[in-house]
Amino acid sequence: MLKGKQLFQQANCHSCHTPRFVTGTEAAEPELAGQVIFPYSDLLLHDMGDGLADQRPEFQASGRDWRTPPLWGIGLTEVVSGHTRFLHDGRARNLLEAVLWHSGEAEASKQQVLNFSQSDRQALLAFLNSL
Ligand code: HEC
Repeated sequence: MLKGKQLFQQANCHSCHTPRFVTGTEAAEPELAGQVIFPYSDLLLHDMGDGLADQRPEFQASGRDWRTPPLWGIGLTEVVSGHTRFLHDGRARNLLEAVLWHSGEAEASKQQVLNFSQSDRQALLAFLNSL
């Protein structure tokens, strides 16, 4: 798993899928303040390129902008939801396909994954499935 984690950082996945956050000090529910969480998301919008664009702008988001989904628990998708469809419209049939649809701001990350050896790709997927 450590190898996959290292590859996740090497490919700069963590620049958007931010592993760790501490919740704010001012929370509506005091017990939710100052908690360490591991969402693997920056919760922000990113330009993901034409391939993922739906040409439907909403407010300030263009049709190419998507919010980084949290990756925590993603390895349990099949158990919990009975499917492994990913991305905003479920077009990716598995995690690798989801990564290979990345473009735009995430193009460089995808290129790194394409250049990984077969065993490095397996290690990255094993790490994702462990989240
Ligand atoms: C520029 C920001 C950015 C980078 C860098 C990035 N991602 Fe993403 N990722 C996103 C966004 C935004 C989406 C949602 C796209 C959509 O729904 O169409 C996404 C979706 C995903 C999904 C599908 C999640 C789901 O629930 O559908 C996986 C898996 C994923 N990314 C893994 C990775 C991995 C692994 C890397 C590194 C190789 C990476 N991402 C790099 C922004 C990024």
